[in-house]
Amino acid sequence: MHSIMPIFGTRPEAIKMAPVINALESSPHFRCIVTVTGQHREMLDQVNELFGIVPDHDLNILQQGQSLSAILTRTVDGLEKLFTHTRPDAVVVQGDTTTSTAAAIAAFYHGIPVVHVEAGLRSGDLRSPFPEEANRKMTSQIASLHLAPTSVSKANLVAEGISPEDVVVTGNSVIDALLATVGKYVAFTDPQLEDLATSGRKILLVTTHRRENQGDAMRGVARALARIADAERELVIVLPVHRNPVVREALLPLLEGIANVIVTEPLPYGEFTRLLSMAHFVVTDSGGVQEEAPSLGKPVLVMRENTERPEAVKAGTVALIGTDEARIFTEVTRLLRDPGHFAAMANAVNPYGDGEAAGRTVAAIAELLGVGSRIGDFTGGSSSNAPASPAAPAGS
Ligand code: UD1
Ligand code: UDP
Repeated sequence: MHSIMPIFGTRPEAIKMAPVINALESSPHFRCIVTVTGQHREMLDQVNELFGIVPDHDLNILQQGQSLSAILTRTVDGLEKLFTHTRPDAVVVQGDTTTSTAAAIAAFYHGIPVVHVEAGLRSGDLRSPFPEEANRKMTSQIASLHLAPTSVSKANLVAEGISPEDVVVTGNSVIDALLATVGKYVAFTDPQLEDLATSGRKILLVTTHRRENQGDAMRGVARALARIADAERELVIVLPVHRNPVVREALLPLLEGIANVIVTEPLPYGEFTRLLSMAHFVVTDSGGVQEEAPSLGKPVLVMRENTERPEAVKAGTVALIGTDEARIFTEVTRLLRDPGHFAAMANAVNPYGDGEAAGRTVAAIAELLGVGSRIGDFTGGSSSNAPASPAAPAGS
């Protein structure tokens, strides 16, 4: 049996790694040594709990107000110590956080092959998103196996000189996680959300956390949301707020206490996907939410100038709107008031996956380690009917 060490540290990595870990665990070839850095804490533990993942090692690196350098050095240092007594046959990292790049560097320095899940996303601007574009490019330089979610991401890697032989198009495992979760009824912990579920009111779901949007831009987002809440009294804006104190300081003073704005703690993934399926549409700067919402036929307005996820923009379900306060107000109002525009964006598409990414990932790792061969690539991008919203159980 080969030992595989998935290493991850933040909420989105945990969500996208969970299906891969579960598929590795059910393969006769592999034994998982699950390692978390603890770059996030509550937001990471929430996901592991949902998917029944109990880490074997926890570097517990989180510090309030942590710098990028601290995340990098504390991860490399922790893994350095771990690798001296636990040497896996391969390390699996996901995406573009500083945990994932630091783990890739630590493994590479130890001569351990690096498998990169969600490889090849590129915005084309090294400074946006910061530091994620640089992180993922660095990981691509040292990975042995590149698991690209789409043919677009594979093409990006090949254009940078990565051998096509070392790239497998798997689809994004976030769609595996979404499909495993969204049909299951989960009660909201926050009673305001349970009341909202039966109110029939239109819901605008908002999330924001990106480093490059923090500060003035994020305060502008909050002002735009307050104006929208005032102009559209029947609408309810729901904002599950990231744990980052910098994000909270920008949003909460301007949005707490408004009658039709519900500010919540970060939601457990099952509750979040239920809320997503209830939402009329989404305003976000999140990567993962950009991938999930199109699958459910939910239009997405992305508060960024660029995206490394062009597939859903091309499909027409995602629009880039930046962070200008007046523009956010205009674009949200247009989606609320123009049914033709809304219908054009509310088409359910699955450009990011078919729910089989974890199986392709495990097969590709088996090939890398000489115990199997890869299976057919994800060829994706199909339109489909959105999965039904989860129904409340009888009597609830
Ligand atoms: C990180 C990733 C980003 C990813 C995001 C997902 C990097 C550089 N950034 O950004 O790519 O999109 O996660 O959410 O890797 N905090 C807590 N508890 C938690 C989580 C965060 O208290 O469970 C607070 C801490 O004060 C921490 C701060 O949030 O210092 C920022 O967390 P950090 O991981 O540094 O950055 P994110 O903005 O979350
Ligand atoms: N998410 C969640 N609870 C929340 C907000 C988001 O479970 O309150 C999930 C969401 O469904 C998506 C992921 O977290 O899968 C995205 O994480 P985030 O936006 O923090 O990071 P990014 O994807 O931008 O790196």
